[in-house]
Amino acid sequence: MTTSLITGANKGIGFETARRLIAAGHTVWLGSRDPERGRVAAEELGARALVIDVSDDASVAAAFRTVAEAGTGLDVLVNNAGIEPRAEDGGPLAALDASADRLRTVFETNVLGPLRVTQAFLPLLRRSDSAAVVNLSSGLGSLAGGGGAPYYPSVEYPVSKTALNMLTVKLAQALPGIRVTAVDPGFTKTDLNHHAGTQTVEEGAAASVREALAGNGGESGTFVSAEGPVAW
Ligand SMILES: NC(=O)c1ccc[n+]([C@@H]2O[C@H](COP(=O)([O-])OP(=O)(O)OC[C@H]3O[C@@H](n4cnc5c(N)ncnc54)[C@H](OP(=O)(O)O)[C@@H]3O)[C@@H](O)[C@H]2O)c1
Repeated sequence: MTTSLITGANKGIGFETARRLIAAGHTVWLGSRDPERGRVAAEELGARALVIDVSDDASVAAAFRTVAEAGTGLDVLVNNAGIEPRAEDGGPLAALDASADRLRTVFETNVLGPLRVTQAFLPLLRRSDSAAVVNLSSGLGSLAGGGGAPYYPSVEYPVSKTALNMLTVKLAQALPGIRVTAVDPGFTKTDLNHHAGTQTVEEGAAASVREALAGNGGESGTFVSAEGPVAW
């Protein structure tokens, strides 16, 4: 039996990924920073609800204890939780306007989140015979793609996803037995972009689901979409 944990899975691409992994026979820990939103989503899918705020060391440590004590083990970690600067906080800003504080906030979830969650759950992942870590990156993090220029002038989110890409490479180098990949889900209709995306969540979850189902079978340290490799 394969067990997966998906962070930020109470809605959007993470929720759809959870639905598909459950359909494929995985036991899924549905991560949510909000207990009630997580409980409702997990109940709908038949997942196990797990409270986890990826920006908070204590929350991640508590989540690890919950999974370890449940005895399910862990084979696949999908670092899906992610944020864009919110419009109510002034909206995403271009390089000359964004403050260090704004970047720090986005990094805390989008970069340090996957790092702390991966490190925390390593003791369980190391015991799996087909372990994988799937990091939700973005085409906006592609250096080759210019961070989405000229259509996406703001800086915080693309810089965080570029950093997540390098973190993926470094984790892959450090963890030879575990396959670590960065995925670009494509521009998907979710709350993240106020439903401006052009893809459905079914399409947006395709790359995460494929990588999660592959376990450690395949190349590590890659950046891929549903269509294939993405230029770094
Ligand atoms: N949608 C796209 O077009 C697109 C494109 C490229 C990459 N991505 C990436 O795909 C991933 C999923 O995004 P989405 O589009 O599905 O967005 P979404 O619908 O806004 O979902 C984001 C999820 O992350 C959770 N989250 C945010 N901060 C968190 C934290 N500190 N701890 C735990 N959970 C947290 C949210 O929880 P709450 O409900 O509590 O806010 C929510 O469950 C993100 O990493 C995003 O950057 C999305």
